[in-house]
Amino acid sequence: MISLKVNQQDHAVDADPSTPLLWVLRDLLHLTGTKFGCGMAQCGACTVHLDGEAIRSCVTPVSRALGKNITTIEGMAADPFGKALQEAWTAEDVPQCGYCQSGQIMSAAVLLREKADPTDDDIDLAMSGNICRCGTYQRIRCAIHRAAETNAKAKGGAK
Ligand code: FES
Ligand code: FES
Repeated sequence: MISLKVNQQDHAVDADPSTPLLWVLRDLLHLTGTKFGCGMAQCGACTVHLDGEAIRSCVTPVSRALGKNITTIEGMAADPFGKALQEAWTAEDVPQCGYCQSGQIMSAAVLLREKADPTDDDIDLAMSGNICRCGTYQRIRCAIHRAAETNAKAKGGAK
C-alpha cells in the first residue's frame, strides 16, 4: 500500500510505485477532475500540484508523491488563489468543452502565487504548456487578470 495526502486527506492506495499519479487519482481515488489528454507531458490537462509545484501527473510516478501534499482541482476551492480563479473563470465564462480547464486553473494558481499582478506576457509564458483545443486563451487571460484584482482587493491593496 502507498500512503498519499490528497487535498489535505490521507489515503492508502494499492498501486505499483511506477503507476502514473494521474491514474491513481482518477481510477483509485475517483478524483476525475484531472484529465488525460496526451499522456506525454505535452498538453497540461493532467496538471496537479505537488507541494505547490505544478506537475504533469500523466508522467509522474506515484512514488514521487510520497510524503508530499497533492492538490487537485477538487481541492482548489480551499486554496485562496484557487477560489479567486474559479470565481473569475465563472465570471468570464471561460470554458467551452471544459476538458482542459482544470489543468489551466492549476497552472494559473501557481502563476498568481509567484506573480500577484501578471502581465499578458507573463500569462502567455506561464500558461504556454496548457493547450486548449477550443481556443479559450483570450478568456483565460481575462480571468487571470480578474482573479489578480480580486486577490489585490482582498489584501486591501489598490491595483
Ligand atoms: S495528459 Fe499530461 S500533459 Fe497531456
Ligand atoms: S475548453 Fe475545450 S479544450 Fe479547452
